[in-house]
Amino acid sequence: MFSLPASLLALAAVSHASPILVRDTNDTNPFVFTNYNGLNFTQMNTTLSNVTIFATGGTIAGSSGSALATTGYTAGAVGILTLIDAVPEILNVSNVAGVQVSNVGSEDVTSTLLLSMSKQINTFVCEDLTMAGAVVTHGTDVLEETAFFLDATVNCGKPVVVVGAMRPSTAISADGPYNLLEAVTVAASPLSRDRGSMVVMNDRIVSSYYVTKTNANTMDTFKAPEMGNLGEMISDTPYFFYPPVKPTGKRAYSIMNITSIPRVDILFAYEDMSNDTLYNAVASGAKGIVIAGAGAGGVSTSFNYAMEDVINNHGIPIVQSTRAMSGEVPISDVSSDTALHIASGYLNPMKSRILLGLLLAHNKNMTEIADAFLGSTDD
Ligand SMILES: *[C@@H]1O[C@H](CO)[C@@H](O)[C@H](O)[C@H]1NC(C)=O
Ligand SMILES: *[C@@H]1O[C@H](CO)[C@@H](O)[C@H](O)[C@H]1NC(C)=O
Ligand SMILES: *[C@@H]1O[C@H](CO)[C@@H](O)[C@H](O)[C@H]1NC(C)=O
Ligand SMILES: *[C@@H]1O[C@H](CO)[C@@H](O)[C@H](O)[C@H]1NC(C)=O
Ligand SMILES: *[C@@H]1O[C@H](CO)[C@@H](O)[C@H](O)[C@H]1NC(C)=O
Ligand SMILES: *[C@@H]1O[C@H](CO)[C@@H](O)[C@H](O)[C@H]1NC(C)=O
Ligand SMILES: *[C@@H]1O[C@H](CO)[C@@H](O)[C@H](O)[C@H]1NC(C)=O
Ligand SMILES: *[C@@H]1O[C@H](CO)[C@@H](O)[C@H](O)[C@H]1NC(C)=O
Repeated sequence: MFSLPASLLALAAVSHASPILVRDTNDTNPFVFTNYNGLNFTQMNTTLSNVTIFATGGTIAGSSGSALATTGYTAGAVGILTLIDAVPEILNVSNVAGVQVSNVGSEDVTSTLLLSMSKQINTFVCEDLTMAGAVVTHGTDVLEETAFFLDATVNCGKPVVVVGAMRPSTAISADGPYNLLEAVTVAASPLSRDRGSMVVMNDRIVSSYYVTKTNANTMDTFKAPEMGNLGEMISDTPYFFYPPVKPTGKRAYSIMNITSIPRVDILFAYEDMSNDTLYNAVASGAKGIVIAGAGAGGVSTSFNYAMEDVINNHGIPIVQSTRAMSGEVPISDVSSDTALHIASGYLNPMKSRILLGLLLAHNKNMTEIADAFLGSTDD
């Protein structure tokens, strides 16, 4: 004989009698409901939407010994349950299940982790009719890359809301709890469907396709400088400025059969730029290269010759993006008669890197890669 935890007995006792299961705070097992995918819920109110929170770590999960410190805390120190417990208001909005994908600062997120998380979102959220959407908690430093990857690889119409925090959870006026509540609210809302992945922070709803971290320190950092916000949160209620719309140039890719993403390096352009960084990247095994070019994709003359050599003689695709905060790289600014230069259009170097990696993972050839970037470019 073995004894069932009280919460399981409670579940067995009430699952037919009541559509509402709440957590028994005296029980060491905090979960009252486990769905067919093995996802655990701390509450089940069947009239509410269901949202799965995929936790990767980062500042939103950070803790610090001092309520005044906004630096020096250990990112990823606080787990998913603590996250939910810190914001009980979430349970008025949605039933939430948690999946701990990793517990790292965002700088340690890898393409292996992105593939694994995207597959889990496709399986646990897209394929489950009872699930309204997904929330991804993430460190903010490379959040825009993860958000872009999920936008490209989860395309079932359900919202994937990526959220982080700029202040640690122990700071005065920490932004994590309210950001998390807003993120769950957006993920649970039917208004959020068919808008791709979104970043919800600081009361703004921004498209993951375009969003970038514009400030290294402040809370009002995630913006799409030219394209603007999709909507705003007022008293934890989403207001979308327009009906659902797909970003121009966006394409969707399935990663369900992809096991790895080839290496793509980013090289930054500057005065006196020599060409050896390019050859070093090739020698180190890069299968694709993105240039954070000066202005509309510009590089030095010597570097440009080397790029043509690498494109033509090594068969390595090179995407020219811009180191400028906004604007695009049009094809006309990079094209030549001697090699197939690829313009990033409105995709910044980080997003271009993600897209190029996905295309290489799908074994796309140079022309197909150039075509895929075409949609994001002018002329
Ligand atoms: C939890 O334990 C306390 C103290 O033993 C008791 O008063 C309370 O009724 C218990 N709560 C539940 C939900 O069983
Ligand atoms: C759900 O809870 C069970 C039992 O505690 C655990 O084995 C399982 O890993 C949990 N599932 C997830 C997705 O965390
Ligand atoms: C369950 O959710 C509904 C809203 O859909 C709410 O009115 C009700 O109070 C909730 N029940 C509990 C016990 O929280
Ligand atoms: C939430 O999940 C529960 C359990 O799977 C399900 O009974 C309920 O219908 C779901 N809620 C919605 C709004 O789909
Ligand atoms: C949930 O909503 C009810 C009814 O509006 C409110 O009384 C309660 O305080 C809310 N709970 C939380 C944790 O916000
Ligand atoms: C993945 O591979 C399986 C088996 O080869 C195939 O049936 C399926 O269509 C593939 N799925 C995608 C999305 O490519
Ligand atoms: C790369 O730079 C070196 C040193 O400036 C130069 O000798 C070489 O010709 C350049 N390569 C190309 C392809 O222009
Ligand atoms: C690239 O792929 C396309 C579509 O499969 C094909 O038509 C084209 O011939 C290929 N180009 C090269 C250079 O292999």
